[in-house]
Amino acid sequence: MTAAYDVVQVASLGPQFDERLAASCRVLQAWREPRGLAAFSEELRGLRVAVTSVRHGFTRSMFDALPGLQAVCSWGVGHDTLDLRAAAARGIRVSVTPDVLDDCVADLAWALLLSAARRTAVGDRYVKTGQWRALGQFPVATRVSGKRLGVLGLGRIGEAIARRGAGFDMEVRYHNRSPRPQSPYGYEASLTDLAAWADFLVVACVGGAATRHLVDAQVIRALGPQGILVNIARGSVVDQAAALAALRSGELGGAGLDVLEQEPTDAAEFAELDQVSLMPHVGSATRETRAAMAELVYDNVTEFLRTGRLLTPVPDREMQA
Ligand code: DGY
Repeated sequence: MTAAYDVVQVASLGPQFDERLAASCRVLQAWREPRGLAAFSEELRGLRVAVTSVRHGFTRSMFDALPGLQAVCSWGVGHDTLDLRAAAARGIRVSVTPDVLDDCVADLAWALLLSAARRTAVGDRYVKTGQWRALGQFPVATRVSGKRLGVLGLGRIGEAIARRGAGFDMEVRYHNRSPRPQSPYGYEASLTDLAAWADFLVVACVGGAATRHLVDAQVIRALGPQGILVNIARGSVVDQAAALAALRSGELGGAGLDVLEQEPTDAAEFAELDQVSLMPHVGSATRETRAAMAELVYDNVTEFLRTGRLLTPVPDREMQA
């Protein structure tokens, strides 16, 4: 007897994607059920491919529920919510959506950097709420051009952020687990030294246990009262309590954060901090990039069903990490 479905979708990736996938292969749309995979039994047996998103994740119990699973195709570049160990233990391949979002995430890092330095979000409120007329001149802010840019994590997104620094006549250095020999940027073996050198420190490394609180109180102090911290990676990389304490005491100059330790949040603890610009985790959220990400998930699924190969697999070394 042939299986009724080939693909299980545990998260919706939007009506356009969902309809397109359902039109081209046999898809069990488990996300329609409030209980998810737990609502099914026999239907799960023959399933070869699962579709999810980095927001929804893919847990060990999901792997356990799918005995015939061969591949997981996830929307998003991050894989901190996908249980890669469970996948590797069973030889299940995992794909994510790299490359297509690099430019938009880098653009947002710069939007936050500029907003934190030049106070554009505060200035917007200043004009719209009548303070310009009532109070007069807006306070002076921090210069960006010609300053020093430190990048934590010189992967594809970190590179795109660093490249944009040239347009602002900035010197760029970076910190990674190991130096990138071909890189035109200076390597700092110590993150604290990078922070002490930099005017702006942009966090662009992967999330997960290995990078948790890498930006700690010591790194934040090294960045200093004139320094600005930008995070477009994962909230977990920054010790948020330490950052908040340093922002309140003036030990850290400012911050631009697209990601926080708890998401979503009303971020009440940031409400009084005009030196902080926040965004609700939207690095890749442009129409063009979101369409490209969905397209890449679709292409990974159909390629795997046809050839048994994924187009953008998580590299083996990261599967084992
Ligand atoms: C990613 O692609 O990992 C983004 O953070 C998802 O929004």
